[in-house]
Amino acid sequence: MGKHGIMINAAVLLLVASACSEEENLPNDKEYGEEWYAGGINGTVFNATSRAYRQPMNFINEDATLYRQFMRGERIAEKSFVSDNSMSFSGLGPVYIRKSCVACHPSYGGRGKRVDKFDTADSRNSYLLMIYDPSQPALPLASTYFTGMTQTSAVAPFKPPIDEAGIHLEWLPYTDEHGNKYEDGTSYSLIYPEITVDQSAILFPDFDMSRHAASIEATIGIYGVALLDAISDEDLRAQHAAEVERGYCVGVIGGDIDETGLNPYYPGKHPGRFTYLCTRATLDNGPGSNAIWNITNVTRPDRAYHYITGKYAEVMSKDPEVQQVLGDSEENIFAYLMAKNLRPEMTTEDYEAFMVWHRALAVPAARDLDNETVRRGRTLFYETGCTACHRPSWTTRPDYKPMPALSNQKIYPYTDLLRHDLEMYKPGRARVCRTTPLWGRGLMQVTSGYADMLHDLRARNYAEAILWHGGEAKPCKEKFRAMSREDREALIKFLEAI
Ligand code: HEC
Ligand code: HEC
Repeated sequence: MGKHGIMINAAVLLLVASACSEEENLPNDKEYGEEWYAGGINGTVFNATSRAYRQPMNFINEDATLYRQFMRGERIAEKSFVSDNSMSFSGLGPVYIRKSCVACHPSYGGRGKRVDKFDTADSRNSYLLMIYDPSQPALPLASTYFTGMTQTSAVAPFKPPIDEAGIHLEWLPYTDEHGNKYEDGTSYSLIYPEITVDQSAILFPDFDMSRHAASIEATIGIYGVALLDAISDEDLRAQHAAEVERGYCVGVIGGDIDETGLNPYYPGKHPGRFTYLCTRATLDNGPGSNAIWNITNVTRPDRAYHYITGKYAEVMSKDPEVQQVLGDSEENIFAYLMAKNLRPEMTTEDYEAFMVWHRALAVPAARDLDNETVRRGRTLFYETGCTACHRPSWTTRPDYKPMPALSNQKIYPYTDLLRHDLEMYKPGRARVCRTTPLWGRGLMQVTSGYADMLHDLRARNYAEAILWHGGEAKPCKEKFRAMSREDREALIKFLEAI
């Protein structure tokens, strides 16, 4: 089916391109046809159903080995891990964040829903909880008490560092500088989260919660991330330099992250590009490859130790109840929790299959780009200056070693992969936040039945997401506020289409 598929794709591309060449005044007019292929020719699937975020890229279907690995990888991502060693998918704990990837990335590549209660048993809750020092919100959480992503679950007799019942989430109304009104007088409403943690919910008696703060961050999509991985470091640095030069968007590049030894394909340092704070630079040491270890605490040959703090090991090993149930001494329990050479619970083969799935989740094709309203919205998107940060397209490097089919792909993620200060009210840790890719988001309603947005899901729809754009993006918000209702709706129709 391989060549056949590509020929059909090329034919569609030509048709689309010629159909659109009548339009004269659209920006990048000659490239318009390619925009249907959000994930490039090799990374896009034409699927707009509820299964849109879980499709393999086409070349996976054409290679028996890759297909087997993809399907195995999908199982690993969807299965709830268990602690019982006699069962498959074992290795959960001793302390953990969730039991599976899909627990937080619903529909396989989707993102969570805004919820009122921090309950990890609620499948809609995709929040990661972070405990941080409010005077240094963007710093890696150097706390000796908590892991960077806070664990709220444990396998008995171990106890979670924080008891979820003591985590409180409240949504409060916010009124902006215009009294929440568009220029045409129409009102809008905005809400933001306030999150507090009771001192009594914390396992560590000497940890002072009143000197710390809690923040929530929700999932971003998984599909297409390998295409972002395939953008060259040079192109990313050039984008950063150009934005600094322009002075309008003073993009903050994630610092050069040293990955020596952790990335078998591209050793050395790379600019950060993944997660809201750009804390991860490549997928080989990225949010998914780390998560399959640290979300579940399932060990593997290259991570034969627990994601755990020394403080946690200390408190648990001294706990009389833990000692009694395990029938073991403080020294032995501490040694087990902190061991660097534990028995691997996941094989290298399974990890590699998991990474095939992770890299090859396809990007859904754009929809309705030939619709008149969508075209009007597209023009507005470019004219309003959204593209300064939501950079429409990139071309991937010519030699993407981990998955060669993803080389040389022209993709439409609508992000510069850089961080910006939108001066959002009470943003938690993610005040200077990476521009979220907009590709595929329009299908959230279809895949999940909701479309909450922004890093903490405070926006309940596209309009609210745009209205939270202040700081560097303030001029864009103002232009959006000043638009007629028809134009606002057209802009959103375009966002839904890409
Ligand atoms: C506790 C919920 C949770 C679980 C479980 C989880 N994630 Fe995530 N994931 C997140 C959050 C929140 C983000 C947002 C990024 C951040 O940390 O700033 C994210 C981000 C990502 C990203 C980065 C996307 C980007 O554009 O930067 C990838 C890839 C990812 N997760 C893959 C996975 C995989 C694969 C698994 C399973 C091994 C997994 N995640 C399990 C919550 C979760
Ligand atoms: C100065 C850079 C910048 C400009 C200009 C900008 N954005 Fe954004 N945009 C961001 C950042 C950063 C985020 C992530 C903010 C967060 O989650 O806290 C974002 C998030 C979004 C989201 C939410 C995506 C999601 O899934 O959470 C939408 C929708 C969006 N922008 C649309 C627009 C539109 C439309 C325009 C033009 C009117 C625009 N943006 C202009 C930087 C920018």
